Amino acid sequence: MSETTIIQGGTLVLPDTTMKADIIIRDHVIAELGDGLDVPAGATVLNAEGAYVGPAFVDLHAHLREPGGEAAETVATGAAAGVKGGYSALVAMPNTVPAIDSVPVAAHVLELGRRSMLEVVPAGAITLGRRGEHLAPMGELAALGLTFFTDDGTGVQNAGLMRRALLYAKGLGLTLAQHCEDESLAGAGCMNASALSSRLGLAGRPAIAEEAMVARDLLLAQDTGARLHVLHLSTARSLAMVREAQARGVAVTAEVTPHHFTLTEESCAGYDPTFKVHPPLRGSTDVEALRIGLHAGYIDAVATDHAPHAPEMKERPFDEAAPGMLGLETAFSLTLEALGGGEADPVLLFKVLSRTPAHIANLTRHDQRRHGLSAHGGDLSIGTDANLVIVDTSTRSVVNRHDLASLARNTPYEGRSLIGAVRHTVVAGTVALRDGEFTR
Ligand code: DOR
Repeated sequence: MSETTIIQGGTLVLPDTTMKADIIIRDHVIAELGDGLDVPAGATVLNAEGAYVGPAFVDLHAHLREPGGEAAETVATGAAAGVKGGYSALVAMPNTVPAIDSVPVAAHVLELGRRSMLEVVPAGAITLGRRGEHLAPMGELAALGLTFFTDDGTGVQNAGLMRRALLYAKGLGLTLAQHCEDESLAGAGCMNASALSSRLGLAGRPAIAEEAMVARDLLLAQDTGARLHVLHLSTARSLAMVREAQARGVAVTAEVTPHHFTLTEESCAGYDPTFKVHPPLRGSTDVEALRIGLHAGYIDAVATDHAPHAPEMKERPFDEAAPGMLGLETAFSLTLEALGGGEADPVLLFKVLSRTPAHIANLTRHDQRRHGLSAHGGDLSIGTDANLVIVDTSTRSVVNRHDLASLARNTPYEGRSLIGAVRHTVVAGTVALRDGEFTR
């Protein structure tokens, strides 16, 4: 018998407005909606008093490290971190070992996802081994249900190859997601190129390394008519170019990460490799532009770039340490804080964390056609899959890396007091997190 759950006393966040109502979940879908619903016999009761109830979050950018990087994270532990962070679906990045560039590896990650606490959607690699030389079999991977392709970790450097990939993607109805950094400009840089990097004696990765590839790919997307998604956009100029292209009708979307809109390059001043990431943390002008853009609704999605690393990869000199930082368990609070904390517009909050990313990953009700996966980022109407999150927007807690569900510990927010908390997470009708605790 499938479980019945009632979510009581919350404020529902719909696509354009909010509404006080209870929700009854039965047979994995939203079965009833209304004020003061009776508790069905044997139902699990989730208290949502004083909280928002919305579609659970969808992360377009999670490094789950399996296969090959199990010392840092597994699909199971990454999924647990996701559930704790309020997510029902994660797009798993393909820079695993081996890369997700073949049907057997993609099928393996899908299977690991099915055994995890939430829904895992593998992204396919654009090129074989992410080496940027030959295209991966995107058609075969698409037949398995993959619609999102990227070489993330690096961008496709060769413009001719990227153009060919976009043409294939267009024909197959896929989205190409690009890690925009031109390696001939980024070189061996390990932090933002600036006066600070010179003072610290660290080689810099200049903003132009990102912006040059954003500019190139916007032109290629326009020229081919293919759908492009810009991963972890980090500068004011990148955002301006994306907006300008969108205004011209180019099929482009962009994400920003919480670390790029909350942390500046100053964090690197103590040479702590926790703050090393690609693209790098930028100066305060860029960070402020991203915050303004987020607040104004100019940014399509907040994505984590959750990048777990084993201690031995991070506890090295800054220039030798692996780039990347954790994100799944802090993204909601940081986004809430940037949008105004308790005063944040809940419609915008759920738009950037759930509805638009679900759309970009083809996980919504209308275009979700992948085997065994449910629809995410929904409008909370009756009959839709119950992927839901219930969040507090006023409580505060201090980040303690030892409390994280992730296997890794490389959070840049250790000791920081954050606003907001994920109270309950429901994945495909099953309560996965209740009062902040896992149910199994
Ligand atoms: O800092 C990063 N780390 N940027 C990326 O694009 C990849 C990621 C990783 O896989 O660790």
